[in-house]
Amino acid sequence: MKINLANIKKAKKFLDKRDCIAVPTETVYGLAGNAYSDSACNKIFRLKKRPRYNPLIVHYYDILSLRKDCELNEDFLKLYSKFCPGPITFILNLKKNSKISKFVTNNKKTLAVRFPKHPITRCLLKKLNYPLAAPSANLSSKVSAVSASDVKEDFGRKIKYVLEGGKASIGLESTIIDLNAKPRILRLGGLEVSNIKKILKKKIHVDINPKKIKSSGQLKIHYSPGIPIRLNAKTVKDEEALLLLKKRKKMKKNFFYLSINGNLKKAAKNLYSILRKIKKNKYKSIVVAKIPNVGLGKTINDRLIRASKYK
Ligand code: TXA
Ligand code: MG
Repeated sequence: MKINLANIKKAKKFLDKRDCIAVPTETVYGLAGNAYSDSACNKIFRLKKRPRYNPLIVHYYDILSLRKDCELNEDFLKLYSKFCPGPITFILNLKKNSKISKFVTNNKKTLAVRFPKHPITRCLLKKLNYPLAAPSANLSSKVSAVSASDVKEDFGRKIKYVLEGGKASIGLESTIIDLNAKPRILRLGGLEVSNIKKILKKKIHVDINPKKIKSSGQLKIHYSPGIPIRLNAKTVKDEEALLLLKKRKKMKKNFFYLSINGNLKKAAKNLYSILRKIKKNKYKSIVVAKIPNVGLGKTINDRLIRASKYK
Protein backbone atom coordinates (compact mmCIF):
# COMPACT_ATOMS: atom_id res chain seq x y z
CA MET A 1 0.00 0.00 0.00
CA LYS A 2 1.34 3.43 -0.99
CA ILE A 3 1.76 5.82 1.93
CA ASN A 4 0.81 9.43 1.24
CA LEU A 5 2.93 11.46 3.68
CA ALA A 6 0.88 14.62 3.14
CA ASN A 7 -2.20 12.79 4.45
CA ILE A 8 -0.28 11.52 7.47
CA LYS A 9 0.92 15.04 8.21
CA LYS A 10 -2.64 16.31 8.02
CA ALA A 11 -3.86 13.52 10.33
CA LYS A 12 -1.11 14.35 12.84
CA LYS A 13 -2.06 18.02 12.80
CA PHE A 14 -5.65 17.24 13.82
CA LEU A 15 -4.54 14.78 16.51
CA ASP A 16 -1.97 17.22 17.93
CA LYS A 17 -4.84 19.73 18.31
CA ARG A 18 -6.74 17.05 20.29
CA ASP A 19 -9.29 16.50 17.52
CA CYS A 20 -10.60 13.04 16.63
CA ILE A 21 -10.05 11.50 13.22
CA ALA A 22 -10.72 8.07 11.69
CA VAL A 23 -7.75 5.82 10.96
CA PRO A 24 -7.52 2.58 8.99
CA THR A 25 -6.43 -0.64 10.67
CA GLU A 26 -6.20 -4.18 9.32
CA THR A 27 -9.26 -5.18 11.40
CA VAL A 28 -11.70 -2.25 11.16
CA TYR A 29 -11.40 1.56 11.04
CA GLY A 30 -10.83 3.26 14.39
CA LEU A 31 -12.10 6.60 15.73
CA ALA A 32 -8.83 7.94 17.09
CA GLY A 33 -7.70 10.59 19.55
CA ASN A 34 -4.70 11.31 21.82
CA ALA A 35 -5.01 8.76 24.64
CA TYR A 36 -3.19 11.09 27.05
CA SER A 37 -5.72 13.89 26.52
CA ASP A 38 -8.99 14.09 28.49
CA SER A 39 -10.56 16.37 25.92
CA ALA A 40 -9.68 14.16 22.93
CA CYS A 41 -11.02 11.06 24.74
CA ASN A 42 -14.18 12.88 25.71
CA LYS A 43 -14.82 13.71 22.07
CA ILE A 44 -14.53 10.03 21.12
CA PHE A 45 -17.29 9.05 23.58
CA ARG A 46 -19.53 11.89 22.42
CA LEU A 47 -19.10 11.22 18.70
CA LYS A 48 -19.65 7.48 19.03
CA LYS A 49 -22.53 7.89 21.51
CA ARG A 50 -20.65 5.33 23.59
CA PRO A 51 -21.60 4.75 27.23
CA ARG A 52 -18.91 6.20 29.50
CA TYR A 53 -18.44 2.93 31.40
CA ASN A 54 -17.22 1.18 28.25
CA PRO A 55 -13.42 1.61 28.14
CA LEU A 56 -11.39 2.34 24.98
CA ILE A 57 -8.60 0.34 23.31
CA VAL A 58 -5.27 2.17 23.07
CA HIS A 59 -3.08 1.71 19.98
CA TYR A 60 0.71 1.78 20.23
CA TYR A 61 3.50 1.69 17.66
CA ASP A 62 5.55 -0.86 19.59
CA ILE A 63 6.46 -2.34 22.96
CA LEU A 64 8.90 0.49 23.78
CA SER A 65 6.13 3.06 23.71
CA LEU A 66 3.86 0.77 25.77
CA ARG A 67 6.38 0.26 28.61
CA LYS A 68 5.63 3.70 30.05
CA ASP A 69 1.97 2.89 30.57
CA CYS A 70 1.57 -0.82 31.39
CA GLU A 71 3.08 -3.68 33.37
CA LEU A 72 4.22 -6.34 30.93
CA ASN A 73 4.03 -10.05 31.77
CA GLU A 74 5.47 -13.21 30.28
CA ASP A 75 2.38 -14.32 28.37
CA PHE A 76 2.17 -10.87 26.83
CA LEU A 77 5.81 -10.97 25.71
CA LYS A 78 5.33 -14.35 24.03
CA LEU A 79 2.20 -13.28 22.18
CA TYR A 80 3.65 -9.88 21.29
CA SER A 81 6.71 -11.37 19.61
CA LYS A 82 4.60 -13.83 17.63
CA PHE A 83 1.55 -11.81 16.59
CA CYS A 84 2.31 -8.09 16.79
CA PRO A 85 1.65 -5.92 14.99
CA GLY A 86 -1.61 -7.75 14.36
CA PRO A 87 -5.27 -8.39 15.25
CA ILE A 88 -4.92 -9.07 19.00
CA THR A 89 -5.77 -6.81 21.94
CA PHE A 90 -4.26 -7.40 25.39
CA ILE A 91 -5.75 -6.42 28.74
CA LEU A 92 -2.83 -5.42 30.98
CA ASN A 93 -2.35 -3.66 34.30
CA LEU A 94 -1.86 0.09 34.09
CA LYS A 95 1.24 1.58 35.70
CA LYS A 96 0.50 4.02 38.51
CA ASN A 97 2.35 6.87 36.77
CA SER A 98 0.84 6.23 33.32
CA LYS A 99 -0.39 9.32 31.48
CA ILE A 100 -3.44 7.56 30.00
CA SER A 101 -6.56 9.72 30.37
CA LYS A 102 -8.93 8.53 33.10
CA PHE A 103 -11.75 8.62 30.53
CA VAL A 104 -10.06 5.83 28.51
CA THR A 105 -10.35 3.32 31.34
CA ASN A 106 -13.25 4.82 33.28
CA ASN A 107 -10.86 4.84 36.26
CA LYS A 108 -10.18 1.08 35.94
CA LYS A 109 -6.74 -0.32 36.72
CA THR A 110 -6.45 -2.24 33.46
CA LEU A 111 -5.87 -1.07 29.91
CA ALA A 112 -6.72 -2.68 26.55
CA VAL A 113 -3.77 -2.27 24.17
CA ARG A 114 -3.20 -3.13 20.55
CA PHE A 115 -0.49 -2.77 17.88
CA PRO A 116 -2.25 -2.32 14.54
CA LYS A 117 -0.55 -3.65 11.43
CA HIS A 118 -1.90 -1.30 8.77
CA PRO A 119 1.19 0.46 7.29
CA ILE A 120 -0.47 3.88 7.12
CA THR A 121 -1.52 3.89 10.76
CA ARG A 122 1.86 2.48 11.80
CA CYS A 123 3.54 5.34 9.98
CA LEU A 124 1.24 7.80 11.78
CA LEU A 125 1.80 6.22 15.23
CA LYS A 126 5.56 6.40 14.74
CA LYS A 127 5.36 10.15 14.30
CA LEU A 128 3.25 10.82 17.42
CA ASN A 129 4.54 11.20 20.94
CA TYR A 130 1.35 9.76 22.43
CA PRO A 131 -0.64 6.56 21.77
CA LEU A 132 -4.07 6.60 20.11
CA ALA A 133 -7.29 5.68 21.89
CA ALA A 134 -9.47 4.25 19.13
CA PRO A 135 -12.69 2.29 19.39
CA SER A 136 -14.18 0.98 16.15
CA ALA A 137 -15.35 3.93 14.02
CA ASN A 138 -19.07 3.15 14.00
CA LEU A 139 -22.01 4.27 16.08
CA SER A 140 -22.31 2.32 19.33
CA SER A 141 -23.89 -1.19 18.93
CA LYS A 142 -23.86 -1.00 15.10
CA VAL A 143 -21.78 -2.73 12.42
CA SER A 144 -18.10 -1.69 12.35
CA ALA A 145 -16.64 0.34 9.48
CA VAL A 146 -14.27 -1.44 7.08
CA SER A 147 -13.74 1.44 4.63
CA ALA A 148 -13.43 5.22 4.71
CA SER A 149 -16.86 5.51 3.08
CA ASP A 150 -18.46 3.41 5.87
CA VAL A 151 -17.05 5.87 8.41
CA LYS A 152 -18.44 8.82 6.45
CA GLU A 153 -21.82 7.08 6.22
CA ASP A 154 -22.03 6.84 10.03
CA PHE A 155 -20.57 10.20 11.03
CA GLY A 156 -20.90 12.54 8.02
CA ARG A 157 -19.04 15.75 8.67
CA LYS A 158 -18.91 15.23 12.43
CA ILE A 159 -15.48 13.66 12.00
CA LYS A 160 -12.91 16.25 10.92
CA TYR A 161 -10.76 13.88 8.88
CA VAL A 162 -10.74 10.28 7.66
CA LEU A 163 -7.30 8.92 6.87
CA GLU A 164 -7.89 6.79 3.75
CA GLY A 165 -6.40 3.30 3.90
CA GLY A 166 -8.51 1.19 1.55
CA LYS A 167 -10.67 -1.73 2.64
CA ALA A 168 -9.63 -3.39 5.93
CA SER A 169 -7.83 -6.62 5.07
CA ILE A 170 -9.26 -8.71 7.95
CA GLY A 171 -12.65 -7.04 8.35
CA LEU A 172 -13.42 -8.30 11.89
CA GLU A 173 -12.32 -6.68 15.14
CA SER A 174 -9.26 -7.91 17.05
CA THR A 175 -9.34 -10.89 19.42
CA ILE A 176 -9.27 -9.62 23.02
CA ILE A 177 -7.30 -11.56 25.64
CA ASP A 178 -7.14 -10.69 29.32
CA LEU A 179 -3.67 -11.57 30.61
CA ASN A 180 -3.94 -10.47 34.20
CA ALA A 181 -4.53 -13.86 35.74
CA LYS A 182 -5.22 -17.01 33.75
CA PRO A 183 -5.45 -16.09 30.05
CA ARG A 184 -9.05 -15.38 29.13
CA ILE A 185 -10.55 -14.53 25.76
CA LEU A 186 -13.08 -11.71 26.13
CA ARG A 187 -13.92 -11.33 22.43
CA LEU A 188 -13.40 -13.66 19.47
CA GLY A 189 -11.78 -11.80 16.62
CA GLY A 190 -9.43 -11.75 13.67
CA LEU A 191 -6.81 -13.98 15.34
CA GLU A 192 -7.96 -17.55 15.94
CA VAL A 193 -7.82 -18.76 19.55
CA SER A 194 -6.12 -22.00 18.44
CA ASN A 195 -3.12 -19.95 17.24
CA ILE A 196 -2.86 -18.24 20.64
CA LYS A 197 -3.07 -21.61 22.40
CA LYS A 198 -0.15 -22.94 20.34
CA ILE A 199 2.09 -20.16 21.65
CA LEU A 200 1.03 -20.05 25.31
CA LYS A 201 0.81 -23.85 25.57
CA LYS A 202 -1.77 -23.67 28.34
CA LYS A 203 -5.50 -23.69 28.82
CA ILE A 204 -7.22 -20.56 27.60
CA HIS A 205 -10.66 -19.74 28.97
CA VAL A 206 -13.15 -18.40 26.47
CA ASP A 207 -15.37 -16.04 28.40
CA ILE A 208 -17.38 -14.27 25.74
CA ASN A 209 -20.84 -14.39 27.36
CA PRO A 210 -20.23 -13.67 31.07
CA LYS A 211 -22.86 -12.70 33.65
CA LYS A 212 -20.93 -9.53 34.39
CA ILE A 213 -20.06 -7.71 31.15
CA LYS A 214 -16.40 -6.68 30.97
CA SER A 215 -16.21 -5.83 27.32
CA SER A 216 -18.88 -4.39 25.01
CA GLY A 217 -18.17 -7.14 22.49
CA GLN A 218 -19.72 -9.42 25.14
CA LEU A 219 -23.01 -7.52 24.99
CA LYS A 220 -25.88 -9.66 23.76
CA ILE A 221 -26.91 -7.09 21.12
CA HIS A 222 -24.04 -5.68 19.10
CA TYR A 223 -22.75 -5.46 15.53
CA SER A 224 -26.29 -4.88 14.26
CA PRO A 225 -27.06 -3.56 10.78
CA GLY A 226 -30.32 -2.20 12.21
CA ILE A 227 -32.70 -4.82 10.74
CA PRO A 228 -33.71 -8.23 12.12
CA ILE A 229 -31.50 -11.24 11.34
CA ARG A 230 -32.61 -14.91 11.38
CA LEU A 231 -29.93 -17.58 11.67
CA ASN A 232 -29.67 -21.06 10.12
CA ALA A 233 -32.85 -20.49 8.14
CA LYS A 234 -34.16 -23.05 5.68
CA THR A 235 -36.60 -20.78 3.83
CA VAL A 236 -36.46 -17.21 2.59
CA LYS A 237 -39.15 -14.84 1.30
CA ASP A 238 -38.61 -12.54 -1.71
CA GLU A 239 -38.59 -9.43 0.46
CA GLU A 240 -35.86 -10.89 2.70
CA ALA A 241 -32.14 -10.91 1.90
CA LEU A 242 -30.42 -14.29 2.03
CA LEU A 243 -26.82 -14.20 3.27
CA LEU A 244 -24.75 -17.10 1.97
CA LEU A 245 -21.23 -18.19 2.82
CA LYS A 246 -20.57 -19.08 -0.81
CA LYS A 247 -22.00 -18.24 -4.19
CA ARG A 248 -24.69 -20.62 -5.46
CA LYS A 249 -25.08 -21.75 -9.04
CA LYS A 250 -28.53 -20.22 -9.14
CA MET A 251 -28.40 -16.78 -7.56
CA LYS A 252 -31.48 -14.58 -7.12
CA LYS A 253 -31.69 -10.80 -6.74
CA ASN A 254 -32.11 -11.10 -2.96
CA PHE A 255 -29.15 -13.49 -2.50
CA PHE A 256 -25.85 -12.10 -1.19
CA TYR A 257 -22.69 -14.16 -0.84
CA LEU A 258 -19.69 -13.62 1.48
CA SER A 259 -17.19 -15.47 -0.72
CA ILE A 260 -17.14 -17.23 -4.09
CA ASN A 261 -16.13 -20.65 -2.78
CA GLY A 262 -16.59 -20.62 0.99
CA ASN A 263 -13.20 -19.21 2.02
CA LEU A 264 -13.70 -18.01 5.60
CA LYS A 265 -10.99 -15.32 5.46
CA LYS A 266 -12.66 -13.74 2.44
CA ALA A 267 -16.06 -14.11 4.10
CA ALA A 268 -14.79 -12.31 7.21
CA LYS A 269 -13.43 -9.49 5.10
CA ASN A 270 -16.78 -9.02 3.34
CA LEU A 271 -19.18 -9.57 6.25
CA TYR A 272 -19.71 -6.00 7.47
CA SER A 273 -19.80 -4.37 4.04
CA ILE A 274 -22.40 -6.85 2.84
CA LEU A 275 -24.56 -6.31 5.93
CA ARG A 276 -24.38 -2.57 5.21
CA LYS A 277 -25.22 -3.14 1.53
CA ILE A 278 -28.31 -5.23 2.37
CA LYS A 279 -29.57 -2.49 4.68
CA LYS A 280 -28.97 0.15 1.98
CA ASN A 281 -30.91 -1.97 -0.52
CA LYS A 282 -33.91 -1.56 1.83
CA TYR A 283 -34.44 -5.22 2.74
CA LYS A 284 -36.52 -5.49 5.90
CA SER A 285 -34.72 -8.53 7.29
CA ILE A 286 -31.80 -10.89 6.71
CA VAL A 287 -31.83 -14.66 6.68
CA VAL A 288 -28.47 -16.37 7.19
CA ALA A 289 -27.63 -19.80 5.79
CA LYS A 290 -25.46 -21.92 8.11
CA ILE A 291 -21.80 -20.94 8.41
CA PRO A 292 -19.40 -23.65 9.69
CA ASN A 293 -18.33 -22.96 13.27
CA VAL A 294 -14.59 -23.44 12.71
CA GLY A 295 -11.67 -20.99 12.53
CA LEU A 296 -12.83 -17.50 11.59
CA GLY A 297 -16.31 -19.00 11.13
CA LYS A 298 -16.55 -18.87 14.95
CA THR A 299 -15.97 -15.11 14.94
CA ILE A 300 -18.41 -14.59 12.05
CA ASN A 301 -21.07 -16.60 13.89
CA ASP A 302 -20.38 -14.72 17.14
CA ARG A 303 -21.09 -11.41 15.35
CA LEU A 304 -24.19 -12.73 13.58
CA ILE A 305 -25.63 -14.20 16.80
CA ARG A 306 -25.24 -10.84 18.59
CA ALA A 307 -26.64 -8.98 15.57
CA SER A 308 -29.62 -11.39 15.52
CA LYS A 309 -30.74 -10.19 18.97
CA TYR A 310 -31.92 -6.96 17.35
CA LYS A 311 -35.73 -7.00 17.02
O1 TXA B 1 -9.89 -4.39 16.05
C1 TXA B 1 -10.14 -3.65 17.00
O2 TXA B 1 -9.95 -3.99 18.16
C2 TXA B 1 -10.71 -2.27 16.68
C3 TXA B 1 -9.64 -1.44 15.98
C4 TXA B 1 -10.07 -0.04 15.69
O3 TXA B 1 -8.47 -1.48 16.73
N1 TXA B 1 -11.18 -1.62 17.86
C5 TXA B 1 -12.30 -2.00 18.53
O4 TXA B 1 -12.62 -1.19 19.58
O5 TXA B 1 -12.95 -2.97 18.20
P1 TXA B 1 -14.02 -1.26 20.34
O6 TXA B 1 -13.99 -0.13 21.30
O7 TXA B 1 -15.14 -1.26 19.38
O8 TXA B 1 -13.95 -2.59 21.12
C6 TXA B 1 -13.03 -2.66 22.20
C7 TXA B 1 -13.53 -3.57 23.25
C8 TXA B 1 -14.78 -3.05 23.90
O9 TXA B 1 -15.70 -4.14 23.90
C9 TXA B 1 -14.36 -2.70 25.31
O10 TXA B 1 -15.38 -2.95 26.23
C10 TXA B 1 -13.19 -3.61 25.51
O11 TXA B 1 -12.54 -3.65 24.28
N2 TXA B 1 -12.24 -3.11 26.53
C11 TXA B 1 -11.58 -1.96 26.53
N3 TXA B 1 -10.84 -1.82 27.65
C12 TXA B 1 -11.05 -2.93 28.39
C13 TXA B 1 -10.59 -3.40 29.66
N4 TXA B 1 -9.74 -2.69 30.40
N5 TXA B 1 -11.04 -4.60 30.10
C14 TXA B 1 -11.89 -5.34 29.35
N6 TXA B 1 -12.36 -4.97 28.13
C15 TXA B 1 -11.96 -3.77 27.66
MG1 MG C 1 -16.82 -1.72 18.42
